[in-house]
Amino acid sequence: MRINYKSTYCIINPKRKKLRHQGVRIDTMKVICTEKSQILATSLARALKTSVVEVKYSRFPDGEQYLITGELDDETIIVGSVVDNDSLVQLVLLMDACDSSDNHLVLPYMGYARQDKRFLPGEPVSARAVAQVLSRGILEIITVNIHEQEVLKYFGVPARNISLAQDIGSYIKSLNLSNPLILAPDEGALTFAEHVASAGGWDVDHLEKTRLSGVEVKMAPKQVCAASRSVVIVDDIISTGGTIATASGMLYQQGAKDVFAACVHGVLTGGAYVHLMAAGIRDVVCSDTIERGCSKISAADRIAQTLKKS
Ligand code: R5P
Repeated sequence: MRINYKSTYCIINPKRKKLRHQGVRIDTMKVICTEKSQILATSLARALKTSVVEVKYSRFPDGEQYLITGELDDETIIVGSVVDNDSLVQLVLLMDACDSSDNHLVLPYMGYARQDKRFLPGEPVSARAVAQVLSRGILEIITVNIHEQEVLKYFGVPARNISLAQDIGSYIKSLNLSNPLILAPDEGALTFAEHVASAGGWDVDHLEKTRLSGVEVKMAPKQVCAASRSVVIVDDIISTGGTIATASGMLYQQGAKDVFAACVHGVLTGGAYVHLMAAGIRDVVCSDTIERGCSKISAADRIAQTLKKS
């Protein structure tokens, strides 16, 4: 059952009924985070002009996780990307530790969101299972470029998704490329690529796969020729980097001047960064929804603006 956010909030704290229309209460609010979202949480606190509650994280001898928080305020913004199983458990424990305050959850990267359907009988809808666990004791949830907008309906509380497409566009501007071509790796990512390209009024297209034989596949932009151009491949997630590495090789064969890669969530599993560099990608950039050495784009300001407008 979906909970009515405004009425729930008023029951919890009738004194702050009026303030619900004015965003989070900066003067009685703190940010808290899981271990793998420390940098984003700190940037968010700075953008909101508030502080981050310190948390001590440790493990019991059998490997179970433990944490203890510093002093909380009336309202808490919990920031935690689900990047692996440990970070999911840590986030659940942190949410429980914050049960004395009114909580907003910022879920910058939601692992398990890609299993958003039952593709085969007997499978879980993992996105739904995780969403339900992460709704407990939370007033509202903010996600960043969630893999499928449809996943939002699995949360038991109001959930909003924000996009960093414009921020990726701004980063591409800073590279000072001459007339770049923004390329989605497939048609499904085209809308995202269009939003990125709108930041600079650049050309946009998506890659199309053509099967040449039983073993040979060609990948090329559907409409725009890549020859002599700087190409930036953009996607929500780079996981193994396999799609982009293959595309990069083919774009160079088609005469591309240089190829760059940008994404929101740098999952970068199985040596993906090295694989992309070996494929001739000039620069790989991601945001701080997953904290990496190549996290040169921050989601903090956009999350802060969204929270202020709650
Ligand atoms: C898939 O639906 C996502 O949007 C990405 O395209 C995918 O996760 C990329 O995977 P990889 O980096 O392993 O090719």
